[in-house]
Amino acid sequence: MTQRSLLLIKPNAVEHRHVGHIVSILEGAGYQLRQMREFQFTPETAGIFYAIHKGKEFFPRLVQFMCSGPTVAIVLEKENAISDLRELIGEVDPAQRHGGTLRDLYAEGVTENAVHASDSKENAQQEIALLFGPQARI
Ligand code: PPS
Repeated sequence: MTQRSLLLIKPNAVEHRHVGHIVSILEGAGYQLRQMREFQFTPETAGIFYAIHKGKEFFPRLVQFMCSGPTVAIVLEKENAISDLRELIGEVDPAQRHGGTLRDLYAEGVTENAVHASDSKENAQQEIALLFGPQARI
């Protein structure tokens, strides 16, 4: 089934100019780029985006990092985009990351982990609507 998912290229990866490399990997893996924009999270938008993690020990660090510089958001389309993209980005925990995943290549720490991908169809729809507007095709 063709699906759309949201990828964020986080501030550490944008700052170190990995956007082109990451886009090239995505296209090579069969994803169509449907929408793309660069923006900077505010504490308010980051708080909404990560609302599900409010109250967790790492939440303030996560929001502070996500607001530390520009982020690139990309709407990607492919068969089984949601689960395949989660596999392509790799694990949050460095000890569990497989070689060749985007986080294996570009993460610089647990927090500075280079990329985010939606973890479900519902969250993909919400995240795309938040960052690209309610009119965005999802
Ligand atoms: S949880 O608790 O299992 O739901 O957490 P997880 O799914 O692994 O991660 C949720 C998001 O929080 C980020 N995260 C962290 N940020 C900063 N510091 C620490 N220690 C940390 N642990 C998890 C993680 O990268 C997830 O954000 P996204 O943007 O989705 O990758």
